[in-house]
Amino acid sequence: MLRRARRTITILRTRKDLDGWRAQQSEVGLVPTMGALHAGHADLMRRAAAENDIAIASIFVNPTQFAPGEDLEKYPRTFERDVEVLRDAGVAACFAPTVEDMYGDGDGVAVLPPPRFDALSEGAARPGHFSGVCTVVAKLWNAVRPKRSYFGQKDAMQCAVLRSLCRDLAFDLEVVVCDTARADDGLALSSRNAYLDADERAAAPVVFRALGAARDAWRAQAGPGPAAALRSCLLYTSDAADE
Ligand code: PAF
Repeated sequence: MLRRARRTITILRTRKDLDGWRAQQSEVGLVPTMGALHAGHADLMRRAAAENDIAIASIFVNPTQFAPGEDLEKYPRTFERDVEVLRDAGVAACFAPTVEDMYGDGDGVAVLPPPRFDALSEGAARPGHFSGVCTVVAKLWNAVRPKRSYFGQKDAMQCAVLRSLCRDLAFDLEVVVCDTARADDGLALSSRNAYLDADERAAAPVVFRALGAARDAWRAQAGPGPAAALRSCLLYTSDAADE
């Protein structure tokens, strides 16, 4: 009987470990994650593996992007299973640092997102969130130095903020935004869907249906009015958002 050899995956625990690893690579694709990987993450991983010489994923539950009272403590941590997802998707290495390695004593520089995001949607609802995201992603890009970095369009505003980060701080890489992966009933796949009980899970696809209805209403309407407000939201899902 033929046995297929198990793909090996290199686990790197510190930014220093990455230095040695990176020196041996040419074109690297990076998928930053907080773990609890699902089929949407696997899509990003496969794309990173297909479009680059080698793909690496980071798994790091980043404390600085959680506001006080948010779910930092209970955020799902499923490292062993995540490594299997990476292996199956063709990812060669996993960077899984400690908080100490990334933030030292916690008294370091933080990166601020463009102020225009402060009053908008998730920026307004989660003060400090996008600063935490920008700070950790800047650290990851500096440590890994990828050619391309992959994100899901589900987090549309995050994608727009990170495109600004890349452009404004002149990172020499491409931010690749990938389609949202959905369950059959339209619910966007998310690690936090694990928090939903049966009734909440049954109700959740209403968000997808409502967004679809809003998009159709916008397309059907010519001229200003409510369509203008809708347009400003929908823009954040496109490449045109920060132009
Ligand atoms: O989208 C996420 O999982 C996180 O915000 C990210 C980009 C990995 C930064 O911690």
